[in-house]
Amino acid sequence: MSENRENRTGPVGSGETADGEILLKVTGLQKHFPIRSGLLKRQTGAVRAVDGLDFEVRRGETLGVVGESGCGKSTMGRLITRLLEPTGGTVEFEGKDITHLGVGGMRPLRRDVQMIFQDPYSSLNPRHTIGTIVGAPFKLQGVTPEGGVKKEVQRLLEVVGLNPEHYNRYPHEFSGGQRQRIGIARALALKPKLVVADEPVSALDVSIQAQVVNLLDDLQQELGLTYVIIAHDLSVVRHVSDRIAVMYLGKIVELADRNSLYRSPMHPYTKALMSAVPIPDPSRKSAKSERILLQGDVPSPIAPPSGCRFHTRCWKATEVCRTTEPPLLELRPGQRVACHHPENFEDQAPQDTVLLSGAKEAAELVPDAVLEESTSAAVVAERESGTEPGQDEGPDADPDEGSEGSAGGSEGSGEGSGEAVTKE
Ligand SMILES: Nc1ncnc2c1ncn2[C@@H]1O[C@H](COP(=O)(O)OP(=O)(O)OP(=O)(O)O)[C@@H](O)[C@H]1O
Ligand code: SF4
Ligand SMILES: [Mg+2]
Repeated sequence: MSENRENRTGPVGSGETADGEILLKVTGLQKHFPIRSGLLKRQTGAVRAVDGLDFEVRRGETLGVVGESGCGKSTMGRLITRLLEPTGGTVEFEGKDITHLGVGGMRPLRRDVQMIFQDPYSSLNPRHTIGTIVGAPFKLQGVTPEGGVKKEVQRLLEVVGLNPEHYNRYPHEFSGGQRQRIGIARALALKPKLVVADEPVSALDVSIQAQVVNLLDDLQQELGLTYVIIAHDLSVVRHVSDRIAVMYLGKIVELADRNSLYRSPMHPYTKALMSAVPIPDPSRKSAKSERILLQGDVPSPIAPPSGCRFHTRCWKATEVCRTTEPPLLELRPGQRVACHHPENFEDQAPQDTVLLSGAKEAAELVPDAVLEESTSAAVVAERESGTEPGQDEGPDADPDEGSEGSAGGSEGSGEGSGEAVTKE
């Protein structure tokens, strides 16, 4: 399946993909949730959940979105499906500005853009039968499919691997994985163009996760779907995505095609996330000996750190990082990064060499041995689908190459003023 992914997309940012037409374009997208207090409920601050996102989603691709809890992934998903009203910026779908469309204006769009939610237990109404749940979108849109709603719902149940005879059953009669399949059937009912899946497998058992991940992948190929898949598990995102956006505190810090991101991450935060990703191929496990453990919690989105928001946890942070926000720039073709001292690339602020005092303690290297063996969804999915991990990545690909860089202790990369510290 990864080979197909490889064929479907080309260099990021160049627009020169076989089917690289832009389906969704997001510019400067913001969502600030007001904080109110006092008797008059005056606004005293705001949670800057999403604070200026720029990205696009191409027809037929899967864009993975990763980042720690609270970094604004779900808010972003709800903004682009227009379940939330943006505070600033624009959202364009098929070239049309949909940023502030009202209920009426959004109605036709609701067919084209669907969302799959994280929790298959709470997202299905327990009092409705499966037939009613999966058939609801037809009712809402006033659409009668060919052959009638019942027939179409039964067909959809079959498509997602459920027994069409279970049409009259209730959600509690199904397992978590089956419920998520029901949610997927509902999302697909109106043949959407874009499906935004927010943590579609994280509430499921690992073995079931793999089946659902593979189902999403198969459906994409059969139905030509475009996905935005949100997950905090980078191995899931690696398995399903063509391109990946890494979020930190309401911002995208790196956006690249999957292989570039895994082979050669440029943002220190991406590198730290990558270093925690299990390698599916046991024979390559020995290639990696240390992982980066970030210290401290993610700062509050109510008062994010100045300059680069990651500077309070970054082992390469210098004064410029504290004072000046790095723009998201395409430093390599298809790889956008917001960092003054990127990994695996020329330093963007070489004059700024003095590390901030906290940088030394910002990250810790831990040996593989102390980290638990992972049986993540992606690992299981790759095993089950028989894909040789790395098969799609070229002969010299090593998704963890980046973690052998400065923070991993190698001598090679040489750029960035955090080098000296992280080698110690
Ligand atoms: N309706 C809301 N009102 C106020 N703050 C909110 C609201 N929804 C989200 N937030 C805040 O916005 C920030 C981003 O939340 P969001 O749910 O988008 O994060 P996330 O990346 O999806 O996290 P997780 O991985 O835990 O799902 C958090 O600090 C959250 O508390
Ligand atoms: S080196 Fe500076 S700009 Fe880059 S991630 Fe670290 S703190 Fe941010
Ligand atoms: Mg979320």
